[in-house]
Parts: sequence; C-alpha cells; structure tokens
Amino acid sequence: MTARNEYALITGASAGLGAEFARQLAAAGQNLILVARREDRLSALAEELRAAHKIDCQLIVADLNEPGAGAQISSTCVSSGWQVSFLVNNAGVAGPDLLKDRDWTAQQTFFQLMMLSVADLCHRMIPNMVERGYGRVINVASVAARVPRAGGCNYGPAKAYLVALSEELNLTVAAQGVHVSALCPGFTHTEFHETAGLMDMKNNMAKWLWYNADVVVRDAIKGVEAGKPVVVSGRLYRWLDPIFQSVWTRRLLRIKARPE
Ligand SMILES: NC(=O)c1ccc[n+]([C@@H]2O[C@H](COP(=O)([O-])OP(=O)(O)OC[C@H]3O[C@@H](n4cnc5c(N)ncnc54)[C@H](OP(=O)(O)O)[C@@H]3O)[C@@H](O)[C@H]2O)c1
Repeated sequence: MTARNEYALITGASAGLGAEFARQLAAAGQNLILVARREDRLSALAEELRAAHKIDCQLIVADLNEPGAGAQISSTCVSSGWQVSFLVNNAGVAGPDLLKDRDWTAQQTFFQLMMLSVADLCHRMIPNMVERGYGRVINVASVAARVPRAGGCNYGPAKAYLVALSEELNLTVAAQGVHVSALCPGFTHTEFHETAGLMDMKNNMAKWLWYNADVVVRDAIKGVEAGKPVVVSGRLYRWLDPIFQSVWTRRLLRIKARPE
C-alpha cells in the first residue's frame, strides 16, 4: 500500500493497456489517477477498483490532443494535493499516414498526442519525483519503434522518439531514484486495431503474434522496477528485438516500397 497522497497517473486508462495498468497497479495497492476522454468508462473502472482493492481512485477527463492538457492535468494534481510517484504515458492511436493524409492539422494533432503530451507530462512530473528521490515512469512505445519500414512514416517514428526520450531521461535521473522505461509491446489484444479500422488486418494475422494485455503490463512493471530503459514485452518480441537491432538484419529488412 502506498502513502495516502501518492498516486499512479495513467493516461488512456479507459481501455486496453491503460485499463490493465490500472488493474495491476490497484492490485498492488497503488492509489490511481485515471486520465482519458470517455468519462463513463473511467468512472466504471474507478468504481470497480475502489471496491476490489480499497484504494483511492481519481479521474481527470482530458483530451491529450489539446496542447493545454498537460497543464490542466498537472494543475488538478497540485491543487488536489495528489503526489504523482508513478506515471504511465499510455494513451495513443494509430494515426494518419504522413504522406497520404493531406490534412496537416490532423498530423499536428497526432504529434501532440503521441509525442508532445508525453514530453509535457514528463517535464511537469519528473522534477518533483527527483526532488522526492523516488519515481517510476513508463512511456508506452512499440516494437514498431525498433525497426524502420516503408509505409505510414508516422507511428513508428513517433514511438522511436519515446524510446529515445525514455533512454535519455533514464540516464539523467536514475541515480536520483527515478526509473524511466520505454515499453515496446508487439501486437496486443486491445481496442487499438478496431479504433484504427484495422480489424481485417488483425483477423488475417497469425494468432501466435498476439499477446494479451496482462502479459505486456506485467513485463512493463517488472522492467521499470528493475530500472530497464527499454522493456520489450513478450517472449517472441524479446527474441526478435536483438535481431531487429543488428545492422545485418537492418540491411536485409530495408525493403523499399514499390511505386503504386
Ligand atoms: N495494441 C497494440 O497492438 C499495441 C502495440 C504496441 C503499442 N501500443 C500502444 O499502446 C498504447 C495503448 O493502446 P491500446 O492498445 O491499449 O489501445 P486502446 O485499447 O485503443 O486504448 C487507447 C487509449 O488511449 C486513449 N486515448 C486515445 N486518444 C486520446 C486522447 N486524445 N486523449 C486522451 N486519451 C486518449 C483512449 O481513451 P479515450 O478514447 O477514452 O480518450 C484509450 O483509453 C498506445 O500508445 C499504443 O500506441 C499498442
């Protein structure tokens, strides 16, 4: 059980990996602050977790597409006296194709959610963790960050930024008691592919490529506690990752897209 005013703040807690982070951290006795846009989902989850684990569970309804969301979340925490000692930057979507989708505003909104909102919450919350000598931060990236490939040109690069950000933050603050990890899941059963209109792709893929959210979240929590800057979840993806990182494999994988 954590101190009365100490909380784990989870973005994107209304579904998928975020809701699973909430369940596992609540089971470990952590008080929670759940953040997302769908208030009904957050309220139902908070009620379930308060009843099951006797923790305090607060909600902040926020749209991380908005540049002011980080300031709104941080000021709500400060004015309510909630100390954030565990931060999970998890909210995310598949997003637009950088070249094919011609609406620049939609591209900027994607960058705001996937990169700027994460940097913003790290910027606002990590200095306080350093001051107090303890903190845990998980930035949810992806295996897509680990190997460049043709197509999209947005999701993989945005997640690669989170890996680079987490590695540098971890080098900077680990000695002061604050562990920062980038979590790199492979394909995971959540609502992500349905929201992105990718169910046909999902249904046509081999089942053994897919993990359940509970495995991914367990790996993430174990990894951040151990101080790992990059946590690749799932046995299959942990085995593939060093192969993806090898210069020789990268040469082989450098498959150029064919002209359409
Ligand atoms: N599933 C996979 O195969 C997979 C693999 C690698 C990495 N990931 C990453 O894992 C993370 C979680 O995704 P998931 O798979 O759990 O997907 P999910 O089930 O679709 O959940 C996405 C969560 O993000 C929140 N969200 C989206 N846009 C938001 C916004 N503008 N403001 C606030 N919250 C927002 C959603 O809440 P609201 O809609 O209620 O706001 C929801 O709670 C993402 O960063 C994703 O890129 C997923």
